[in-house]
Amino acid sequence: MPEQPFPPRPIEIAPSVLPADFSRLGEECEALEAAGVDRIQWDVMDGRFVPNLTFGPDVIASVRNRVEVPFEAHLMVLEPDEMAARYVEAGCGMLIVHAEACRHLHRTLGAIRELGASPAVALNPSTPVSVVRHVLDLVDLVLVMTVNPGFGGQAYISTMEPKIAELRQLIVDGRYEVDIEVDGGIGSGTIAGAASAGANILVAGSALYRDPEGLAHAVTDLRARAEAAAATG
Ligand code: DX5
Repeated sequence: MPEQPFPPRPIEIAPSVLPADFSRLGEECEALEAAGVDRIQWDVMDGRFVPNLTFGPDVIASVRNRVEVPFEAHLMVLEPDEMAARYVEAGCGMLIVHAEACRHLHRTLGAIRELGASPAVALNPSTPVSVVRHVLDLVDLVLVMTVNPGFGGQAYISTMEPKIAELRQLIVDGRYEVDIEVDGGIGSGTIAGAASAGANILVAGSALYRDPEGLAHAVTDLRARAEAAAATG
């Protein structure tokens, strides 16, 4: 029986709320849901792993019931084990920890699954794909950072595309049910490169909020560009 081709994963657009108006986060989440996003990413920063400080679990909990779309917490924090349960309780269905912040990554990912959440791991630009080779059976997603974490509005690092392709090949070879997410500098001019390389979940912040035709146009346009690029490979 010939081995079945490994099906591509569906394209998703995930906004970062980093550029949103923090005084109106509930309304901003409602606008993102109305614009057709597939999930919402919360860029959680502790001021130590990255030189910025953002959302605690109570902030996320305060808007959880305003929308139906899934929440994921991108934990750019030095001690993810300490806070994981709080972000799950706040309503984040997926926790993305940085491999660089975990002394015992395999244990941390298993603990997130035991909390009832979906485990995921992020790789900073300089971190090789080999770091996740032995945890692909534990995660539902790997995030390849296409900027150095800490701030929105940075330039896309196109040299990450071979890294995305390398990760995709590892996933296909092992037939893992794992999404590849990219985050940083994703917009109309860069999304095709990331999707062609193998990314299927695309995080965008600035590109969504800067679109003069509004959020819905930006989401629709980015999704179409990513789907077209993924189809041609
Ligand atoms: C970096 C952040 C940003 C943000 C998206 O730590 O994670 O990548 O989500 O930023 P944009 O889309 O504005 O580059």
